[in-house]
Amino acid sequence: MNPKTLSDMRKSYELAELDDAHLKNTPRAFFEQWLDEALKAKIPEPTAMTLATVDSHLRPSTRIVLLKGLESEGLIFYTNYQSRKGQELAGNPHAALQFHWVELERTVRIEGLIEKTSEAMSDEYFHSRPRGSQIGAWASPQSQVLQSRELLHAEVSRLERLYANQTIPRPEHWGGYRLIPSVWEFWQGRPSRLHDRVRYQKSINSAPTAWTIERLGP
Ligand SMILES: Cc1cc2nc3c(=O)[nH]c(=O)nc-3n(C[C@H](O)[C@H](O)[C@H](O)COP(=O)(O)O)c2cc1C
Repeated sequence: MNPKTLSDMRKSYELAELDDAHLKNTPRAFFEQWLDEALKAKIPEPTAMTLATVDSHLRPSTRIVLLKGLESEGLIFYTNYQSRKGQELAGNPHAALQFHWVELERTVRIEGLIEKTSEAMSDEYFHSRPRGSQIGAWASPQSQVLQSRELLHAEVSRLERLYANQTIPRPEHWGGYRLIPSVWEFWQGRPSRLHDRVRYQKSINSAPTAWTIERLGP
């Protein structure tokens, strides 16, 4: 590739603007509106979000997970508790999420604390998954070194035989996390890189929760 190709790539963001008048009192309500718009726009993977965690040496890492629930208190996703992300979250519950809805020229960044969902909630979601995904949760030692792909398939076949005609129980090492946000940032692309950025920050010790809303430089 011509090295100039990358530096010459440019896109102007012109679809929409983020007016103060359109903001909601709570970031949760505003997020729900943007998520609805992303779903209606039928963009690919509207619930995919980047999850950032930090390890015990303060080294960050990211990966994509799917939003599987939106509660008044938090955002839910499911994974393997022994995976790299699971181990990092066990050591440091501070995490960040980011949605990028390319077609809408929007991103949402969220920062907060993570906790595990209840076992009952993890069970309910696990049992709603297709059988193949349930077997996969058992078969995959997520984030660990695999000696070969064949061994993974062999483990899937063993588990399929083991659980033939039976309900597959949820592995203890697989379940949900809830991120409870303290900061949300909504970004709408605008022309000439003069994007709109609006941040909601949770006010400390306020009950009910109050949010400080500020506009940030693009
Ligand atoms: C669109 C998309 C959705 C994904 N959703 C999940 C998910 O919900 N849970 C999950 O554990 N991994 C999901 N993955 C895989 C993760 O990105 C990642 O590879 C895996 O969780 C291991 O991450 P870790 O080694 O950092 O723990 C998804 C990947 C993509 C591309």
